[in-house]
Amino acid sequence: MTKINKDYLKLPGSYLFSMIGKKVNEYAAANPDKKIIRLGIGDVTQPLPAKVISQLHEAVDEMAVKETFKGYAPDLGYEFLRTAIAENDYRARGCDISPDEIFVSDGAKCDSGNIQEIFATDNRIAVCDPVYPVYVDSNVMAGRAGDYIEDKGCFSNVIYMPCTAETGFAPEIPSEVPDIIYLCFPNNPTGATVTRSELQKWVDYANEKEAVIIYDAAYEAYIRQEDVPHSIYECAGADTCAIELHSFSKNAGFTGVRLGYTVIPKKLVREGVSLHSLWARRHSTKYNGAPYIVQRAGAAVYSEEGKAQVKALVDYYMENATYILNGLKKAGYTVSGGVNAPYIWLKTPDNMTSWEFFDHLLTKVNVVGTPGSGFGPHGEGYFRLTAFGSHENTVEAIDRIVSM
Ligand code: MLT
Repeated sequence: MTKINKDYLKLPGSYLFSMIGKKVNEYAAANPDKKIIRLGIGDVTQPLPAKVISQLHEAVDEMAVKETFKGYAPDLGYEFLRTAIAENDYRARGCDISPDEIFVSDGAKCDSGNIQEIFATDNRIAVCDPVYPVYVDSNVMAGRAGDYIEDKGCFSNVIYMPCTAETGFAPEIPSEVPDIIYLCFPNNPTGATVTRSELQKWVDYANEKEAVIIYDAAYEAYIRQEDVPHSIYECAGADTCAIELHSFSKNAGFTGVRLGYTVIPKKLVREGVSLHSLWARRHSTKYNGAPYIVQRAGAAVYSEEGKAQVKALVDYYMENATYILNGLKKAGYTVSGGVNAPYIWLKTPDNMTSWEFFDHLLTKVNVVGTPGSGFGPHGEGYFRLTAFGSHENTVEAIDRIVSM
């Protein structure tokens, strides 16, 4: 008889954004005359940069010609893309990362969920609380998280690092020693960042404890302040303790196109084994690579035209972030994030729970956000708004909230 993976049964409810989607669809079906504005999931709304589109067209045309047609992509991704990434995202910032330490993939969500496969199930993970749910859920599925403790809203074998207003929503080194540490800066969901010297402390700690940091840099394009690092490899010694995840979704609008990459330095070794070699084995066995046309589109992001267009896109969303931040502040909300990140994190008013405020906003002003408690117990009493809407919708949503 076939037996199922019972670890899946430990997951409470459905995936956060599926749950929100379901609730909103039910409300929309019952209230067809209402104009709902969605500032919940961090999905982009603006078209792809023109340079990306032209490269997509060119690459599609190449696929129609025998001489330029491409089949399977190389295991790690096309050289032209990995070289552009190494040059622009790393060497230009003084980080010594080479093209063959980069694995091209179909996005940071998949990589952040899959990367745990190269580690033993008896490793203990540490996560920020609140946290992007994929890090925890993928470890629950793998049997690494222990049991769900209903009244605490957390898993018995996971080390939660509270990120509170008192700490500027940054984690502190935990008292129990983890084997794997998930960090995401600029942070999803709080929009918080750490300075280079604060991140250096994590790198030093991980090297001292022989732990591995999985560093999600999906939102680095939104960094505005000088002392906030774009990559963990800006810290000395990160190449012996850190894996970094990147996305083309949030900077260049690839949420529906799908492209990302993971960096594993060759110097990163645990128990005498190179983690690069383990991930290379996993990647080549289970994955056939992002499509050629999409990798060409990704390379366009690093052209001069592409860079300018991506910057304009990021600036567009950051204008929204500023509008949300200032509008809510003026209306008396306690707000953070939105300065180096496309997420705004606000305290719910009148001691409402996160889900109460979700219902309140949906039914009173038809605005959708994300309840903070969906990201972990310390997210309770908070709420996330995304800056990825259109200007018009963002302005209308904030004006509606402010006049509530
Ligand atoms: C979010 O809303 O947190 C993001 O859209 C999640 C993701 O990028 O997968």
